[in-house]
Amino acid sequence: MCLFLDVLSLLLIFPVLMAPTPASMCTPLKTLSDNLSHRRRYMVRHNFPINYTIRVHQKEIFKLSNIRRMRLNVEGLDDLVLQRLWFQINQGVLKKIIRIMPERHPSRSYTAELERRFKDAEGVFVQSQPPEALQQELPQTVQDIWDRLTEEPDLVPESSWRFAFPKSLLDNLFHTMYCLFSECFSSEDAQQDYCEVSHWRKGRKKDLQPES
Ligand SMILES: *[C@@H]1O[C@H](CO)[C@@H](O)[C@H](O)[C@H]1NC(C)=O
Ligand SMILES: *[C@@H]1O[C@H](CO)[C@@H](O)[C@H](O)[C@H]1NC(C)=O
Repeated sequence: MCLFLDVLSLLLIFPVLMAPTPASMCTPLKTLSDNLSHRRRYMVRHNFPINYTIRVHQKEIFKLSNIRRMRLNVEGLDDLVLQRLWFQINQGVLKKIIRIMPERHPSRSYTAELERRFKDAEGVFVQSQPPEALQQELPQTVQDIWDRLTEEPDLVPESSWRFAFPKSLLDNLFHTMYCLFSECFSSEDAQQDYCEVSHWRKGRKKDLQPES
């Protein structure tokens, strides 16, 4: 454990791969995080048929393990690219969750608020970056994912669709947000590695009630 902490603190002293997250991002992301902390209540109990799943693109199942794999395998990948991808993926995910809810579904207004908060964060993100940064060419692997996500649904091959629980899609959104914007969520005395899958496994409680 001590060794682990040492390695962690080294990583924190030399944050080589991390582009700094503009501080202005933190307010909308923390609001989104507050709202996401209620996701269990709205996404599971009573509100859906048992085992209800949503059809999403394979690439829309975007988890910590995907981020880790990409960081290992994709050349020229910085956090800004991953953050852009995160916004692109999750706006589609939220849209798909809302789309299956009739107007009077008990989770509809919750999910609509999530989407609104998400768009607020995206707006701040776009404004906080110099325009060149957002037009920067993406590494090929990321560009491929991007193209798949924006393909006409009719053209997406059957094999690229997956079925996912609404709750687990929001779990992914939540966990990857903490990983990619960790500077907004680490408290000074307790630095956490939110990109570690084990962090979330151990801290189930935190998962529900994140510290702000
Ligand atoms: C979302 O978060 C804001 C700020 O913390 C809060 O005022 C609002 O009630 C929350 N909404 C939901 C649905 O959790
Ligand atoms: C729901 O899924 C679980 C786990 O896959 C399965 O054991 C259970 O039988 C399913 N329930 C229904 C009603 O289909």
